[in-house]
Amino acid sequence: MDYFTRKRVAAIMAELQPAENVIVMGWVRNRRDSKNLVFLSLNDGSTLKNLQIVIENPGKVPDLENIRLGTAIRVVGKLITVPEREHKIELHPGEIKLVGECPQEYPIQKKRHSFEYLREIAHLRPRTNTFGVVNRFRSKIAYAIHKFYQERGFYYIHSPLITAIDAEGAGEQFWVTAFDLENIPLSDGKVDYDKDFFGLQTCLAVTGQLEAEIMALALGDVYTFGPTFRAENSNTPRHASEFWMIEPEMAFCDLDENMRLAGEFLMYLFKYALDECSEEMEFFNRWIEKNRISTLETLLKSKFEIVTYTEAVEILKKAKKKFEFPVDWGVSLQAEHERYLCENHFKAPVMVKDYPKDIKAFYMRVNDDDKTVAAVDVLVPQIGEIIGGSQREERLDVLKKQVKLFGIDEEALWWYYDLRRYGSVPHSGFGLGFARLLMYMSGMANIRDVIPWPRTPRSAKF
Ligand code: 4AD
Ligand code: MG
Repeated sequence: MDYFTRKRVAAIMAELQPAENVIVMGWVRNRRDSKNLVFLSLNDGSTLKNLQIVIENPGKVPDLENIRLGTAIRVVGKLITVPEREHKIELHPGEIKLVGECPQEYPIQKKRHSFEYLREIAHLRPRTNTFGVVNRFRSKIAYAIHKFYQERGFYYIHSPLITAIDAEGAGEQFWVTAFDLENIPLSDGKVDYDKDFFGLQTCLAVTGQLEAEIMALALGDVYTFGPTFRAENSNTPRHASEFWMIEPEMAFCDLDENMRLAGEFLMYLFKYALDECSEEMEFFNRWIEKNRISTLETLLKSKFEIVTYTEAVEILKKAKKKFEFPVDWGVSLQAEHERYLCENHFKAPVMVKDYPKDIKAFYMRVNDDDKTVAAVDVLVPQIGEIIGGSQREERLDVLKKQVKLFGIDEEALWWYYDLRRYGSVPHSGFGLGFARLLMYMSGMANIRDVIPWPRTPRSAKF
């Protein structure tokens, strides 16, 4: 197939050098016929840019009548630079081969399709400009995430996807079972999990944190980067049932140091996007949301605002805005509150720390006031929370009290307790939702459009 000898369009566009006998392979994005010439725009997925192919002797090209939008072709020809033209370089073919036909009723046409329509054809949408850009951006930012942690001496760990613990305690897990659902074994009228595949009740992980703690207390600095699952029935533009999370976990690290790392991490990714993903950022800035570039640039020059939950509640209570959910000390902050803080009050991302202990997870370290925990959420405009983190409770007696307070079954936590029995140390970490990060950086307004195959309530088609 000439896989190793063909040239990618991205390389051609980066080099802009004339050359003979260049092989390119890709799909036709556009065809334009003039009197004696046919112009094809070829896209091979390596870049947003199309390569202009100029056919000077259309009569001699076999199958040319079948080469149209969506057709896969292989072209061998001569690259010619045309500095005076916008496309800068074009390919004059000696040979064109039709590799894969595409009928005229191709679902992607040469016009703007709505994102809603494209979600219905998620198997074809990566071939559009927007979703090509989104998916290349996803890949580049995933790489930057690894780069950030690897450069800082963190080890990448793979936490299990099947677990026996609902670590966030929200009761939003998908159960994992090998039972015949029509014929579930019972004992005293209750499900007999002892007879299930693992001999106990298991679910898909909502987080990799508890296992990351195991590793942090052995390797020092670790991070996970993998899928997590939540059966949260929230049909919003920012909730998915399957989403990737990045969870660093650091031994000998307190909440303030944790927050500093979270800030440096986000800034690193913003800078990476601006420096290394200019094609994608320019696209987002032009077509998705104006000001994306300047917003990130401004952020890079500033610092994250930090407030305590108590201060945040005061700000919200003084706000002139009427909230759907009234605010008072002790309530969970809703998206509308988070957005008010970022969009109206601070006009910037903000870190909120020290939340009331009973609205957060059992593992968070109880502060000296015994009312709040050493937790932090990072909130951004338009989306709200993109990071949730905390210092972990390292004192066994306090942890046990918390477990009781939350009404959690202790049995599955024996190993988590052991971590506090043997060489326990203060440690901290946070979770960054990858899809929400991508939404924020790109300006894409719906999580369904930054995840290639989104899983949301009543939708797992592809
Ligand atoms: O705040 P969360 O629930 O925190 C944890 O899971 C901790 N174990 C993290 C840690 O300390 N290691 O989730 C972390 C982030 C949220 O801030 C949000 O960005 C994202 O995960 N997230 C979701 N993203 C998409 N869809 C959902 N349903 C999400 N739920 C959380
Ligand atoms: Mg959270």
